[in-house]
Amino acid sequence: MPETLQSRLAEALAPLANPRTGASLYQTQQVRDIAATREGKVRVTLLLDAQDDPTLARQVRQALERVEGVTEVRVDVKDAAQVGLKSAPSAAAGTAPSGRAGRALPIAEQPAAAPKPPAAPTPVTYPNLGRVIAVSSGKGGVGKSTVCTNLAIALAKAGYRVGIMDADIYGPNIPRMMGVDEAPPVKDEKIQPLEAHGVKVISLGFLIERDQPAIWRGPIVMKIITQFLRDVAWGELDLLLVDMPPGTGDAQLSLVQATSVAGAVIVTTPQEVAVGDALRGAMMFRRVGVPVLGIVENMSYFESPETGKPMAIFGSGGGDRLAKELQVPLLGQIPLYPPVLEGADTGAPIVASQPQSHAAQKLTAVGTAIAQQLGLRPPAR
Ligand SMILES: Nc1ncnc2c1ncn2[C@@H]1O[C@H](COP(=O)(O)OP(=O)(O)O)[C@@H](O)[C@H]1O
Ligand SMILES: [Mg+2]
Repeated sequence: MPETLQSRLAEALAPLANPRTGASLYQTQQVRDIAATREGKVRVTLLLDAQDDPTLARQVRQALERVEGVTEVRVDVKDAAQVGLKSAPSAAAGTAPSGRAGRALPIAEQPAAAPKPPAAPTPVTYPNLGRVIAVSSGKGGVGKSTVCTNLAIALAKAGYRVGIMDADIYGPNIPRMMGVDEAPPVKDEKIQPLEAHGVKVISLGFLIERDQPAIWRGPIVMKIITQFLRDVAWGELDLLLVDMPPGTGDAQLSLVQATSVAGAVIVTTPQEVAVGDALRGAMMFRRVGVPVLGIVENMSYFESPETGKPMAIFGSGGGDRLAKELQVPLLGQIPLYPPVLEGADTGAPIVASQPQSHAAQKLTAVGTAIAQQLGLRPPAR
């Protein structure tokens, strides 16, 4: 075993290659700024190109974590273009994308020419995905992922074939909420979604490091969303719910450019601020021709698990005002109910763990209303 931690780290990094170029991450300094404290806390920088496989971050972290004496690893991902350096020599023209890096996505090669603004692609319809529904919000923390997971489970219980695509690039927490967190296997160049509570799930959280917002600029987001739609073995679905990041950013734009979206569900809380942001979010979908199916007001009131008594806490009426403004239905008012949070933390959303609770029943009713609006009926089994 090499004597110093630094040399052991170097040794651990040496076998890692960029699947796109075949070059060593360490030798080409795509991994750099390797720093370690005496207590074994390690920090490195990884430069990624738009064309690079984002799972490299995880591979680097795992390689370092295995090193003797390492107690903690942090991988800072930086955009190679922003750092002003090419991360690694480009692959020779015509090189086939390599699929050998375990769970690496089969990434389509793009010409390594100077970046030019990508032309807005024509949306592709994927008939096997059924209706693609964006679950969106103006603000983070309003319960978008909670609503998304519970809706999906409710619809699956009603007999629909449902998938969740976690496109929240800033906080992909669907895996935790659904209780699945492993690398999805790749078979025949297709990523196999994981399955939980009767729902197929794919998430950026399976594939990337957490807390790495810096690299998520337009082209990468578009590429990932397209891959999630096209390169995942979803099978036949009736509904694909997409958990969007909050706001009106690249992911929203990418999704509507990548495929035809049947509708958007907007989640808000009763507070005025959340409602203003939600309105902007809803208008963005409208502008690009995606109908807003309705509003879900979450944390509408507090419901005590002990007494079952409702209690207004955040003021009220925000969801209703937003629905009126947009002339869309208020699909449900979901109580702030502590078991909802516990369910999310333990991988058992409330619709699965306490289907008789008010919160679960209201979320289930939202699912029913959406299916009805879309004219869906569960397929005969
Ligand atoms: N109705 C609810 N009752 C109790 N806790 C909730 C409820 N909705 C969401 N939460 C909790 O609030 C936090 C934020 O919800 P989350 O779904 O992650 O929001 P977002 O996806 O909009 O950022 C999570 O911890 C979640 O468990
Ligand atoms: Mg979320």
